[in-house]
Amino acid sequence: MTRAVLACFFLCTWNLVTEAQEADAMTMPLAAAGDPAIGRAIFSDRESGHCVLCHQVDGLEVPFQGNLGPALSDVGARLTEAQIRLRIVDNTKVNPGTVMPSYYRTTDLHQVGRAYQGETVLSAAEVEHLVAWLSQLTGRKE
Ligand code: HEC
Repeated sequence: MTRAVLACFFLCTWNLVTEAQEADAMTMPLAAAGDPAIGRAIFSDRESGHCVLCHQVDGLEVPFQGNLGPALSDVGARLTEAQIRLRIVDNTKVNPGTVMPSYYRTTDLHQVGRAYQGETVLSAAEVEHLVAWLSQLTGRKE
């Protein structure tokens, strides 16, 4: 009896831990390892990511960086690659009320017309380029 209770307790706790990890991070890369230099360009580019609309990064030569979101100059020291990935893919998983767009959400698209099925704001490769660059930002001067 005690053993059964213990086993149950262990399993439940373990489930909670893995669920919490899944909710806060996305461990599996979406594509091959990204290139930080390309990630930096996507971050600044008006036509693709345009993350600078809401985020500021020290040393980045782009005028008018926004502050609606937190500064990301040291994001690589605060978050793991997997946590950064999830926030780019679908930040509503972290904060349901977020104003940050979901850049690679492929679920919940049942109502979308056939032509747009599977279409995401950024490609899988672009997300990985961003992850590669952001995870290098540790707040130290470049
Ligand atoms: C419309 C504004 C907006 C845009 C555009 C935007 N974000 Fe965000 N982002 C936010 C806000 C606000 C948060 C803070 C978390 C929240 O939503 O409450 C955030 C959080 C983050 C975080 C977590 C930071 C931390 O310190 O916890 C990362 C990483 C991130 N954004 C990356 C990006 C990237 C990469 C892009 C471009 C592809 C982007 N964001 C575009 C508003 C934005």
